[in-house]
Amino acid sequence: MQINTSADKFEMVAKTYFGLEKVLARELINLGAADVEVLNRAVRFKGDQLMLYRSNYCLRTALRILKPVLKARILNEKELYDAVREIKWSKLLKKDGTLAIDAMVKSKYFNNSLFIAQKAKDAIVDQYRDTYGIRPSVNKDNPDLLINVHLTERDLTVSLDSSGESLHKRGYRVENGDAPLSEVLAAGMILLSGWSGNKPFYDLMCGSGTLPIEAALIAHKVPGGYYRKNFGFERWLDFRTDMFNKIKQEYKPQFNPIYVIHGMDISHEAIISSRRNAQQAGLSEYIRFSVCDLFKTIKSSEEGIIIINPPYGERIKQEDMYTFYKKIGDALKNNYQGYDAWILSSNKEALKYVGLHADKNITLYNGQLECRYSHFKLYAGSHKTKYLRNKA
Ligand SMILES: C[S@@+](CC[C@H](N)C(=O)[O-])C[C@H]1O[C@@H](n2cnc3c(N)ncnc32)[C@H](O)[C@@H]1O
Repeated sequence: MQINTSADKFEMVAKTYFGLEKVLARELINLGAADVEVLNRAVRFKGDQLMLYRSNYCLRTALRILKPVLKARILNEKELYDAVREIKWSKLLKKDGTLAIDAMVKSKYFNNSLFIAQKAKDAIVDQYRDTYGIRPSVNKDNPDLLINVHLTERDLTVSLDSSGESLHKRGYRVENGDAPLSEVLAAGMILLSGWSGNKPFYDLMCGSGTLPIEAALIAHKVPGGYYRKNFGFERWLDFRTDMFNKIKQEYKPQFNPIYVIHGMDISHEAIISSRRNAQQAGLSEYIRFSVCDLFKTIKSSEEGIIIINPPYGERIKQEDMYTFYKKIGDALKNNYQGYDAWILSSNKEALKYVGLHADKNITLYNGQLECRYSHFKLYAGSHKTKYLRNKA
């Protein structure tokens, strides 16, 4: 079934990481999306052309926004070819345009995503050759039209990828550091914590500064796509510059110096990277970066939120990581009473040695690594008994 994409409102799918679907759905509702439906690692919603631009420009927890143009049930590769050939590609791609295909296959009937991508490409190229007498060329890195082919069992969905490069590429990162978090994951972690700029924010192990920078973007209402040079939809044939400019005017950052955001790290190089990234984002004056050993820091305000992504210790002896995580727990308990602390780690054994009671545990993925994102309420004084000490 070819989808009527010229209708006022059409279906879109925002892709995200496992565990961030609900925060993404909330973001979409806040932006005015209709019929928002949580899926696995994605959220389906409806909206118009403005919503397509708005979602790409504003969302923090979406990786890409797809616009389905065809759904079909297929029995074999020939049917896939026929279905893709039915789409009026000349309305979507200019005569001398370039294309690329991303194929995702989860099927017991079809198992080769490269072959599926190849078949889909043949269908488009053949239709072009018949219509114009020329073949559009493939440009994997920088195509005019990025096409997403998704096959679940026999259900085929062909979508236009309106984002182009993944939206985690915000455009401010100039330094990677050791093991940087994806910007989308970092923003998702902050939104999951409920922090919105209402109290001081601390990342005591900030590496290249992803969490403090994303926190600053949230606090100052800087759209997720504010620094990006381009989006896939800007090269679509129906792109409307006036409409996109309207969105940019509507979602202007609101810089306000009241929010205190801190990024600290024991590594001098890490703080240099953080500062460079923040500077690139024009956020230097809103984040205080300093070289500090977490174990020697003390709180500088009565309340606050701490979000840390400590080393997971893949290359370090597990016993040493237990001691390291125990020291983190002790430092938080002794020096940050009254705060909320969140820790993301794939080292679930070591996390137990933090020795505090986690009242929330959320499963997230940092790349391929399954992680636990745990919340600890650091009660002050009389609530000390709330702490649980695991036997180390
Ligand atoms: C996994 S990296 C954090 C990556 C960061 N979230 C990012 O996006 O770039 C862990 C960081 O912990 C820092 N670290 C290790 N021990 C520390 C300590 N005792 N105090 C402060 N930072 C420490 C390391 O220097 C490293 O930058």
